[in-house]
Parts: sequence; C-alpha cells; structure tokens
Amino acid sequence: MNDYRGKRIIVTGGLGFIGSNLAIRLVEAGASVTIIDSRVPGCGANLFNIAPIVPGIDLIESCIGDVERFASALKEADAIFNLAGEISHSRSMDDPERDLYLNTVTQLRFLLACRANCPGARILYASTRQIYGKPVYLPVDEQHPVQPIDFNGVHKCAATQYHLLLARRGDLDCRVLRLSNVYGPRMALHLPQQGFLGVYVARALNGEPIVVYGDGEQLRDPVHVDDVVEVFLRAGLAPDLKSRVFNVGGPQPVTLNEIAAAAARQSGRSPIHHLPFPEHLIRMDIGSYFSDLTRTQRELGWVPSIEFEAGLKGTLAYYREHRDRYFGFTKQPELPTAARLEYPAVTQ
Ligand SMILES: NC(=O)c1ccc[n+]([C@@H]2O[C@H](COP(=O)([O-])OP(=O)(O)OC[C@H]3O[C@@H](n4cnc5c(N)ncnc54)[C@H](O)[C@@H]3O)[C@@H](O)[C@H]2O)c1
Repeated sequence: MNDYRGKRIIVTGGLGFIGSNLAIRLVEAGASVTIIDSRVPGCGANLFNIAPIVPGIDLIESCIGDVERFASALKEADAIFNLAGEISHSRSMDDPERDLYLNTVTQLRFLLACRANCPGARILYASTRQIYGKPVYLPVDEQHPVQPIDFNGVHKCAATQYHLLLARRGDLDCRVLRLSNVYGPRMALHLPQQGFLGVYVARALNGEPIVVYGDGEQLRDPVHVDDVVEVFLRAGLAPDLKSRVFNVGGPQPVTLNEIAAAAARQSGRSPIHHLPFPEHLIRMDIGSYFSDLTRTQRELGWVPSIEFEAGLKGTLAYYREHRDRYFGFTKQPELPTAARLEYPAVTQ
C-alpha cells in the first residue's frame, strides 16, 4: 500500500464505522487524509473512532452537500473514498425523505462538486447489497436484478447510478463497491437500527439474550471491516476501472443461527432466544443472501481473509477495551426530521 504514501485522500463519512477504519489505514500507509463528516444524528459518527490518527488528519465538519465549505480540499484530492451515508433500512421506512436527502440529494451535490473541482480524482463509492433486494438466485453476482425492498435500497441505488453515469460520461473516475453485512471495531453499537450484527455484538458484550427471528436458517456472508478496507484500497489503486461495480462479502455463508451461536460462545453468558418474525420486519426480510466474489477476486486480486468467528472474537476484544466509548450513552440522540434538514427551495 506504499502507493498511497504522500497522496491526498478525502474520506467522506470518516467519523463513522467503515470510514474511520479506512482513514486509519490510509494514515498508516503515509497518505495525507482529510475527513468530511457532519456527524449526522442517528448515524455512526464517533470522534473516538479516529483517536489513533488525531492529530495528523484534517477534519472538515460539514455535510457533503455543503460543497462550498470544502471546495479547496477537493481541488487537491488524488482520491476520494465516499462513505458518507445513512445505512438504516428500518429508519428509511420510518422517514423516507430523510434517507432521500442523506443518500441522494447530498450525494448528487457532492459529485457535481467533484466534477467541477477534481475531475481527475478517483472516487470509490460504498454501495450496498441491499439494492439487489430478495435474491432470485445465489450466490448473487453483479448482474443480479436490482429490486430493492426498502427506501434505503432505492436511494443507495440512485446514488450508485449517479456515480456510474458520471463515469460513463467520462466526467469522473468512479468505482463502486457493493458491501454485504460489515462488522468489526468502531461500529455504532448504541444504534440498533444499523443492523443485526451490531445488535448481536452489543448483546454478547453485555451478556444479554441474542434474539433470532424466524427459523434462523437465512444465510448471510458477514465481512470484517479490515477486509473491506483492504478491497477499497485495492480498488483505489487499480488502473482503468471507470464505472466498474464489485461485490464485497465475507469468506463463507453462515446462517443467522450460526452467527448467533458464535456470538453466544464469545460472550460466554448470552442465551439464544428464537422468536417469530415481528410483522414490521417480515416485509423487510430478504431471506438468504451471499455474494459471488468472482469478479472482485479476478479484477482486484482480493478475497476476504478473516474467518467469521476469529473476526468476531477480535471485535468483542476491541469493545471490551473501549466499552465506555461505545456504551457511554444509552439515550438515542435526537433525529433530524426531513423538515428540519432545510431543503433548498425548488425554483423554476
Ligand atoms: N456497515 C455496513 O454493513 C454497510 C453495508 C453496506 C453498505 N454500507 C455503506 O457504507 C457506508 C458507511 O457505512 P458505515 O457502516 O460506516 O455507517 P456509519 O453510520 O457508521 O457512518 C456513516 C458516516 O457518514 C456520515 N454522514 C452521513 N451522511 C452525511 C452527509 N450528508 N454529509 C457528511 N457526513 C455524512 C455520518 O455522520 C457517519 O459518520 C454507507 O454509505 C453505507 O451505506 C455499509
């Protein structure tokens, strides 16, 4: 990763889970890193996430849509890892306009600013497996139909297409990674809406029951954040990948029962409870999913290397050491409603 030495890199969403892990690796590789993050209430921003690299980076506390606040940083950027976004599927159903704003409006503004200020920079976008919806075949490759089952999937799909459109037009060099369920240090464990892996880790840590809905035989391919960071770094270095899309998933499919059992083992005291699917979740269930990683392996030379149980063990060790930084507050921060996000007025 010496190729990042001396490079000027922007990480949007760099106070969050994946962005902070990426920023830390980039600093270790000798890059000059600028984080743009507005600490959106309800997302995973946590200043402690970047403790290992402060001071030593530039932090611009700004929404990625407020482009005038960081245009000069864009002008100097060699590459941009674009990880800002809202990841909660359930919250997108509760407040679709909030999700629309965070995942599309601000993304579009950001990309247009990149086109104006740094058309030569490489842009790596964190998309999601959620855009595939309920798989019609397994494993899911990049040609699988796109048929999201929640607003978050629809909006992430739109943002993915913004990146690909500008790349096809030759305006920007965008590459897209479609991430499966990511886990590891620096997840926002206090936000259960961010997904079941964070919930299982939190419950294992606290010795609380781990709840599996349905029969628990649905498959997932959890991928450790260190593997995700590695594939982002590779995608950022590879030449001639404009408008290419890559799946990113874990080393093997595992059932929710197996994931819960692993969490319970690592906890040593968490029981497992099976419950029927709650009505509001059943309509958001995608059944089984795991990624076909053939293209990612062939073109980026990447395969996930961290086995789930080993990755989970290291994850729990991180949170045992820094528990107060991730559980120091029990109350949810207040969420901005769509109305309070101050949309620009529509003009003729
Ligand atoms: N965690 C996963 O399992 C997963 C899976 C698939 C895709 N992804 C994608 O990866 C990216 C990062 O996810 P994460 O798990 O690190 O989430 P996270 O919530 O931990 O971090 C997201 C960060 O983005 C910031 N942010 C959001 N909107 C912003 C905006 N408009 N301007 C500035 N900052 C903004 C938030 O403040 C937060 O710090 C997201 O785009 C997400 O959709 C994540």
